[in-house]
Amino acid sequence: MTMECDRVGGVNLAQGVCDTDLPASVAEGAIEAIRAGLNIYTRLDGIAPLREAIARKLKRDNQLTADPGSEILVTSGATAGFYAACMALLDPGDEVILFEPFYGYHLNTLTALHINPVTVPLELADWNLDLDRLRAAITPRTRAILVNSPSNPCGKVFSPQDLEAIAAIVEEHDLFLFTDEIYEYFVYDGTKHLSPATLPGMAERTISISGLSKTFSITGWRIGYLTASARWLPSIAYFHDLTYVCAPSPFQYGAAAGLVELPETFYTSLAEEYQSKRDLLCSALSSAGLKPSVPAGAYYVLADVSSLSGSSAREKARTLLQERGVAAVAGTAFFHEGRGENLLRFCFAKRDEELSRACGLLKAAL
Ligand SMILES: Cc1ncc(COP(=O)(O)O)c(C=O)c1O
Repeated sequence: MTMECDRVGGVNLAQGVCDTDLPASVAEGAIEAIRAGLNIYTRLDGIAPLREAIARKLKRDNQLTADPGSEILVTSGATAGFYAACMALLDPGDEVILFEPFYGYHLNTLTALHINPVTVPLELADWNLDLDRLRAAITPRTRAILVNSPSNPCGKVFSPQDLEAIAAIVEEHDLFLFTDEIYEYFVYDGTKHLSPATLPGMAERTISISGLSKTFSITGWRIGYLTASARWLPSIAYFHDLTYVCAPSPFQYGAAAGLVELPETFYTSLAEEYQSKRDLLCSALSSAGLKPSVPAGAYYVLADVSSLSGSSAREKARTLLQERGVAAVAGTAFFHEGRGENLLRFCFAKRDEELSRACGLLKAAL
């Protein structure tokens, strides 16, 4: 879609690649580190100033206490954090439960490691969690549940009640809980993000994964982190080291500078800024007759595109690009076969000019 979008000169709302500016302190921190010669391998769990800054941020924003010396691992993005955690803690043939719609990398990472993803569908449209379906999906091979909140692609922010119920099941069946909290600061309409590791009894079972790709608009830098009990962290760090050695050194310094220097208002303004982007896009989609499922978090909108011509989501995505010049992702990318055919995912992590151009194109008559 990206190549085709470039060819027709359309606006690309397909890929989750934000083109918004990174904070100046983050850029300066990395540039200074390069100039200061901090370009060599770092300690395998990351540079101390970044681990310490992450620990302070976790305490302030997530009410999570993590020892920067033994419970925090800086990773090459959240992607590498999840990959290393799976390699360290799971075996081929194990089952991991994901909620559908799912993020493709979660499913494919498991599959690549011969771990079986078992998907539990959220209810369409309101994305409610059906606990009976979740319980029914557990088998003797289940080793973990993965919660991505706020979620890509549907924007669900799991409520405290959802998370408490999941935590009870995790404890009852002696499972791990993997979280992907990369969109933790992208929450709207007063919705609050809750880190599941803070729930009673969950600190040791939870591998909390997050990163700065989205918060600082640095998707190409590859800076993420995870928090886990000191019981698991060394083996996760071992596998991360084996595959990635360390996260890029100067970018670790840039991320640390951002975490240290940016005020708390940076994070609240981020949510406000993205909420107005969300509202702009949702209103354009509605005017275009493509009913959006308004997300409570993250920066994607799934919209019902039944009105577009085409017999599949992929064809509908092509119709939209040809007729209105806007690229989106076929909903089928986030569901098992046969589902998501009437949905397209639109990303609103775009500069205002680009987003306004896309909204204008969407609203223009066919
Ligand atoms: C749910 C989710 N997790 C992780 C990532 C990637 O994170 P990172 O760049 O830190 O690897 C993305 C990017 O789109 C995502 O949507």
